[in-house]
Amino acid sequence: MSSPSLGEIVSLNTFGTRMIVLGTHEAAVELLEKRSSIYSDRNMTPTAELAGFDWLIAMMRYGPRWRKIRAVFHKCMNPNMIVQYRYLLRLVENPAKFYQHGRHLIGAIIIRVAYGIKVVGENDKYIKIAEDAMDAFNIVFQPGRYLVQTFPSLRHIPPWFPGAKFGREFADWFPIVQKIHEVPWETAIAERLKGNTPASIVSTLMDRAEGPEDEQAAKGAAANAYIAGADTTLSTLQTFFAAMASNPLIQKCAQNALDTIVGPDRLPTMEDKPDLPYITAIVKECLRWRSVVPLSVPHMAIQEDEYKGYRIPVGSLVISNTWAYSRDTKYYPEPETFKPERFLLDSGELNPDVLDPAEMAFGYGRRICPGRFFAEASLFTVISSILHTFDISAPLDKEGKPMKLNVNMTNGVVSYPEPFECIIRPRSASAEALVRASASG
Ligand code: HEM
Repeated sequence: MSSPSLGEIVSLNTFGTRMIVLGTHEAAVELLEKRSSIYSDRNMTPTAELAGFDWLIAMMRYGPRWRKIRAVFHKCMNPNMIVQYRYLLRLVENPAKFYQHGRHLIGAIIIRVAYGIKVVGENDKYIKIAEDAMDAFNIVFQPGRYLVQTFPSLRHIPPWFPGAKFGREFADWFPIVQKIHEVPWETAIAERLKGNTPASIVSTLMDRAEGPEDEQAAKGAAANAYIAGADTTLSTLQTFFAAMASNPLIQKCAQNALDTIVGPDRLPTMEDKPDLPYITAIVKECLRWRSVVPLSVPHMAIQEDEYKGYRIPVGSLVISNTWAYSRDTKYYPEPETFKPERFLLDSGELNPDVLDPAEMAFGYGRRICPGRFFAEASLFTVISSILHTFDISAPLDKEGKPMKLNVNMTNGVVSYPEPFECIIRPRSASAEALVRASASG
């Protein structure tokens, strides 16, 4: 393994694969965005196919199939989604399980948007199917776990061959992964045949479908929403809870803004967003403070290139180091401090001159996250609803003082805050009444 550092980029040679880590946001923009005709391929296709994930947009080779399914997906990611007010009620009734409630909420929103299926109960079968597939995803794509990621030719060895354990494991996951592709789709199509066509990705795409190829693209697009969108959005929601529990003054400032703009009689909606720049700044700071996809998803070069005198061979994996960019003091002084004010002018408006962390958190160029507006809208609605109705604080130590929360992130393609506790209570009796009234509506 060699690792020459070339200032802005670091190059590693791992088992014959050249990996190039871009050291700055500018380098990522220059290569992955401005030269995106070269850097938009992926290298994970064999692993994805073996485990049954051949419909995952994020892992597809750059080409006509990717282009078609991505285009249809992009068109129907409508940020105007429904908040599940039952979630707030669950926070009232069992606040200690805030992680499970969040996971259920995000899953329910995405299944509704993708298939038009309404998830209600905690033990919903669609949520279970989606979570099982997500568990498989997290294992299959764990960096370095399987040599087949590095040596695609290994896919052709028989499963009994020493070292071919992955083949047996992948065979176990295959039916689990298939379920998320098949089961909710079959339900949505059965409902459609009965004339039930609630607004969803499936409805929009099937209305326009002109043949089996379009129908397959619709099916793939819908299945992508959960795998790509659920744990990523949930990770940021968890970061939000940790940040609020550690920063009571920031929380109070957000609540004051909500009290002024929204008032006590209703919950905030996306329509309030232009009047709530402080909440938008909190969402941005959550995305910056703890990167969800710290090394993004590698882009593969399809032709040889040159950057600042350095040769980038064809087949190189080019990695944007989001974690480092979001700590670049040129853009973000005191990067470890959670500070939404960094995005605001003295007048309280958003400052257009501060680099938006969404510019890096969602990747670059032709492979940029197609769910980014949807994710930001979901996070705004959920976070503003929580702040409007709840106080979040750190657990108390033996002396009754708030404990300091250390928010460490897990390793993996998608990174999450490690489990932590916090205290979540309705802000007042009237806030609790509002939550109960909204849940029964
Ligand atoms: C906080 C939430 C999210 C974060 C931080 C995030 C981040 C990312 C990143 C870094 C990439 C790779 C971009 C690149 O290769 O340059 C990506 C790809 C992708 N994301 Fe997201 N994402 C989020 C939410 C979502 C949501 C809600 C959806 C859909 C419902 C979604 C769908 C996708 C898809 C389909 C891809 C693959 C794009 C391709 O390879 O062409 N993401 N996301």
